[in-house]
Amino acid sequence: MAAEPAGGAAAQAPDRNLALELVRVTEYAALAAARWVGLGEKESADQAAVDAMRLMLDSVRMDGTVVIGEGEKDEAPMLYNGERIGDGSPPEVDIAVDPLEGTTLAAEGWPRALSVIALSGRGQMFDPGPCVYMEKIAAAEELAHLLDLDRPLGETLELVAREKGTGVGEVTVMMLDRPRHADAVEEIRRVGGRIRFISHGDVSAALLAVTSGSPVDILWGIGGTPEGVISAAAIKCMGGQIVGRLWPRTDGERRAALDAGYDLEEILDRDRLIGGDDVFFAATGVTDGDVLEGVHLDPRGATTESLVMRTRSRTVRTVKAHHDRAKLREISGERIG
Ligand code: FBP
Repeated sequence: MAAEPAGGAAAQAPDRNLALELVRVTEYAALAAARWVGLGEKESADQAAVDAMRLMLDSVRMDGTVVIGEGEKDEAPMLYNGERIGDGSPPEVDIAVDPLEGTTLAAEGWPRALSVIALSGRGQMFDPGPCVYMEKIAAAEELAHLLDLDRPLGETLELVAREKGTGVGEVTVMMLDRPRHADAVEEIRRVGGRIRFISHGDVSAALLAVTSGSPVDILWGIGGTPEGVISAAAIKCMGGQIVGRLWPRTDGERRAALDAGYDLEEILDRDRLIGGDDVFFAATGVTDGDVLEGVHLDPRGATTESLVMRTRSRTVRTVKAHHDRAKLREISGERIG
């Protein structure tokens, strides 16, 4: 009888890890955006990241469709929703990109701007359609069973405190600082929980919230739906849970979502936002954040720090790279350097 492969018959042979190729894409976009950090020009920073990401994506062998991109084709000449990326060879994948997550953060030189990309198998990625915002709550694996958007937030904090064996005063929620969160803020204050407000960048906040032992227990709030799907991809690789629900801003948006067949009551958990077990994720810091360092320029070039992950193995890599300035210029012309 032939010997069973190590790990038993169910063990999977090692295969290509697309995330290791995707990290070059986010590094390149982050380097391009970094040129604009602190210059107050968010459109230019975003455009630089989009151009660089699009260029580098051509080096990845795949048959990809952009499900979450820069918008509709007529307003986004590159990385538009529906755009086909790659040389058409397998694997068939859905792509979510945010070449610059936190455009204002980069433009104003604030922490937490990222360049990010996520891939899933074809048809496995939730398409937000006309739904710009969603409610979200995310936390690490050990708190996942407590995430419920219908339970008052104060009660959830009390349950989290009990689970952690602490008082509510040691439970921290990270949330976007927005007027629409006023009731939740009041509720958290009432029970004595802590809040870390952020001005932008809830993908970075989700990454922090699902990291065990981080100073943030929960990400909560109404933020971008594309960012919710991208966060779900990361969480699927890292462990933890995100629970969301679409949140139309106006009657018009509500009608458009219903007409397009969306169920506005549906609870969208991690696996509904991004299905299958072949999800790849890469993110590179643009400005320094809690999870990743940003691009640091030096006389010879620049360093980047990236997270590189996939679901199948759940390997989480932190990749630090030094990029030679002259070489980068050779490859990209004036784009970087
Ligand atoms: P941009 O990169 O498009 O500027 O998005 C940043 C961001 O803060 C996201 O992280 C967040 O999900 C969303 O905007 C919140 O939207 P808004 O600023 O409209 O409240």
